[in-house]
Amino acid sequence: MTCAKHPDLMFKVNIFVLLCNTLGKTNSMGTCDVSMLPKVTTDLDLSNFDWCSYVLKCVEDTRFSWNESSATSYYFGPIILLTFLYVECVRFDGFKIERGIPAICYWTVDNMRKREDLELKSVGLGNGEILENIGANQEESIEVSHYLIII
Ligand SMILES: *[C@@H]1O[C@H](CO)[C@@H](O)[C@H](O)[C@H]1NC(C)=O
Repeated sequence: MTCAKHPDLMFKVNIFVLLCNTLGKTNSMGTCDVSMLPKVTTDLDLSNFDWCSYVLKCVEDTRFSWNESSATSYYFGPIILLTFLYVECVRFDGFKIERGIPAICYWTVDNMRKREDLELKSVGLGNGEILENIGANQEESIEVSHYLIII
């Protein structure tokens, strides 16, 4: 019945949990991670939430929980971020698109699938040279090697 009294808050809570789980991490069994719920207050402002710090903390939190040698171990961290880092920072000359910042405005799902398909058929995934800095100029460049080591 609390839901009926505060529909705006419940909508915000649902969006917040959805974003935390899709941008950040889920639980190891693929169930919804609700550990961020204590952060929800009646004045929670999703547009002011520090999503960058949250997603980067999820990278660190999930770094050692994936066992690549195990067929039953799945990565449950911020795969969207890591996918963008991969396509932006691992060189593959067999498929090029117009690039820019933010990368999400330039890479479409179709482009990513084409690149994956071509890369798998040629050099294989994860074999390209790592491009250290991305961005149009030095101020926009980010160090990516720290995050690429977990891919
Ligand atoms: C990872 O998985 C392999 C294969 O199941 C297993 O032999 C190994 O002990 C696991 N490593 C860790 C750190 O759990």
